[in-house]
Amino acid sequence: MPTKRIAVTGGAGFIGSQVVERLLQLGCWVTLIDNFNESYDPKLKRRNIELATNEIALSIVEGDIMDQSFLADCFLRDRIDVVVHLAARTNSLASIEEPRLFMETNALGTLSVLEAMRVTRTKRIVFASSCAVYGNLLKPAAEESEALHHPLSPYAVSKVAAENLCNAYNASHGIHAYCLRLFNAYGPRQRPDSAIALMIDSMLHNRPIQIFGNGASKRDYVYIDDVVDGIANAVERVKGFEVINIGEGRSVSLEQLVQQLEIRTGRKAIREQLPMPPSEIYRSCADIRKAHKLLGYDPQVSFIEGLGRYYRWLLGTPAPITRNAG
Ligand SMILES: NC(=O)c1ccc[n+]([C@@H]2O[C@H](COP(=O)([O-])OP(=O)(O)OC[C@H]3O[C@@H](n4cnc5c(N)ncnc54)[C@H](O)[C@@H]3O)[C@@H](O)[C@H]2O)c1
Repeated sequence: MPTKRIAVTGGAGFIGSQVVERLLQLGCWVTLIDNFNESYDPKLKRRNIELATNEIALSIVEGDIMDQSFLADCFLRDRIDVVVHLAARTNSLASIEEPRLFMETNALGTLSVLEAMRVTRTKRIVFASSCAVYGNLLKPAAEESEALHHPLSPYAVSKVAAENLCNAYNASHGIHAYCLRLFNAYGPRQRPDSAIALMIDSMLHNRPIQIFGNGASKRDYVYIDDVVDGIANAVERVKGFEVINIGEGRSVSLEQLVQQLEIRTGRKAIREQLPMPPSEIYRSCADIRKAHKLLGYDPQVSFIEGLGRYYRWLLGTPAPITRNAG
C-alpha cells in the first residue's frame, strides 16, 4: 500500500485498535479518534491501544465524532486521505433501551463525519455497517442486493440510515464510500458485552448462560484478523459506492457454540433457557462472493481455530476484565 494518511474513528475499540495496528504495519500514518466513552470499561479501550501508543506514525486524538468542527480540524491538520469510520454504539439489545443515543451516535455521528469530509474535501470513507441491517434472513445467505425492509432494532435502523447517508454523499459530493456489513466479529479484545465473552465469563464463574430460544439460532462468526483484512483491503480499493458483506460465509448454531465453549473451558455450561427476544436475529450468514470479487477477501481462520486463539488470549490477559455491559 503506498503511504496513506488515515483517520480511524472508534480506533480504541475492539476492531478499531486492530485496524490501527494493521495500517501502521502497512506503513500508513494514522490518526486515531475516540472519545473513550463508558459503553464498556474505558480502561479496556486504553489497554487496546497500548501496543501502538509509541508508534511515531500514530496520533491519538480524544474527541467526539458528534463535534464536526473538531473532526474537520483533525482531517485538515493531518491531511487525511481515507476515513475508516468505526465509532458507534454497538449493542443491538441496548439500543432498544436507549434508541435516541444509538440514532444520534450512529446516524447523526456518521452525518457529522461525512460533513467534516465534505468541507475538508476528504474523498474516501470505509464505514462499518452491520449484518443487523438484514433482520431475519429468508434465504440461506444474505446478499448485498437484499431489500432492507425488516431491521429489528434501533441499532439496525441507525446502520441503514448511515449507509444511506454514505450513498447520498457519494451521489451529491463524489465521496467514495464502501459500507462493510460486518457479521459477528470475535477474537482478542472482543467487547466484554458480546455474547461469546459473556458466556465464557459465566462458565468460568459457574454462572448460568442465557440461551435464547432452543439453541438452534445461527450466527456467522468471523475472526478479527479476517475482518481487519477486509477493512485494510477496502481502504486500498474504495472507489464509487458499494455495500459489501464481511463474514466467514458459514454459520454456527448457538448450541454448537456452547459445545465448543465447553470443550475449550473444560466446564459444563449451566443453560438458562429464555424466550427469543423479538429483536434477536434468528439466523445470519454472509454471502461473501462480492467481498471476494471487490476486495480479494478470503477468510482464513475457521471458527474452531479462532475460538481457540481467542480463549488462549483471554487466559493470558493480565488484569481481570470487568464485565461492564453497555
Ligand atoms: N464487533 C462486531 O461484531 C460488529 C459487528 C457489526 C458491526 N460492527 C461495527 O464495527 C464498529 C466497531 O465495533 P467494535 O465491536 O469494535 O465496538 P467497540 O465498542 O469496541 O468500538 C467502538 C469505539 O467507538 C468509540 N466511540 C463510540 N462513540 C463515539 C463517539 N461519539 N465519538 C468518538 N468515539 C466513539 C468507543 O469509545 C469505542 O472505542 C462499530 O461501528 C460496530 O457497529 C461490529
